[in-house]
Amino acid sequence: MTMIAVGSLKGSPGATTLGLGLASRWPHGHRPVVVECDPAGGDLVARFRLELTPGLVSLAAAARRAEHSDLLWQHTQQLPGELRAVAAPPGADQAHAALMELTSGSEEHSALRTAAEPAGAVVIADCGRIEARSPALPIVKGADALLLLMRARDDALAHAASRVDALAKWSTSASLVLLGDGYPAREVSRELGISVLARLPEDPKGAAILSGSSRRRSALGRSDLGKALAALAERLADQVAAQSADPPKTARAAR
Ligand SMILES: Nc1ncnc2c1ncn2[C@@H]1O[C@H](COP(=O)(O)OP(=O)(O)OP(=O)(O)O)[C@@H](O)[C@H]1O
Ligand SMILES: [Mg+2]
Repeated sequence: MTMIAVGSLKGSPGATTLGLGLASRWPHGHRPVVVECDPAGGDLVARFRLELTPGLVSLAAAARRAEHSDLLWQHTQQLPGELRAVAAPPGADQAHAALMELTSGSEEHSALRTAAEPAGAVVIADCGRIEARSPALPIVKGADALLLLMRARDDALAHAASRVDALAKWSTSASLVLLGDGYPAREVSRELGISVLARLPEDPKGAAILSGSSRRRSALGRSDLGKALAALAERLADQVAAQSADPPKTARAAR
């Protein structure tokens, strides 16, 4: 299985939208699933009018009972299109508690990884804001890739610069995804010492499709955001495949 963690350092730059978009545009032949791992509480239940169960809470309870066979898929719900997601409860306390259970165990053998293993899934874990006390940190640490979404503006860059040392301890496979206009990727990368994997356009119409507020799902592929996400998903899929074909250089081997 492949685990891609997405998150932010500050504000709400669009991490949930990025996670859903990557899963929607992931190359064919894989089984992408979005798992809401945001300790501040989930957004998918409200945005897509989902049920609270099945979801992150029921997955955490089942993982505790060590029922591992195809566990992840049993706790997904269908979003518009073919996409499946494990939705977190909107309440921070409940989401936090479920995450604590799912991240028990070692980073590479967290209950979440174990639950996803038999399914051979591509798990896109939306970890929300990433910080030292986050219960999603073990997911970040154990992920095959971490994507941090941020704007390339002075305030966001200054904040990111103050967190670079902590980030380096959490992930050796972090890359930045920039949103909208701002400093060139090369400058951001040089300033922060983290590679920039992609720049996503500011595209309210494309984002609205991924936020559940537009029903025109078929338009995603034609939107600027949809195209940029498809290119990023393809690049990530190639990167992860290359990592597993070349184990000594993988981020996990480095840990
Ligand atoms: N590329 C984009 N272009 C324009 N609007 C966007 C883009 N990405 C996200 N948005 C919009 O920004 C808002 C916040 O997006 P989202 O919920 O994905 O952010 P987040 O980083 O997950 O926030 P939070 O920290 O609250 O979980 C939503 O209204 C979404 O539609
Ligand atoms: Mg979010």
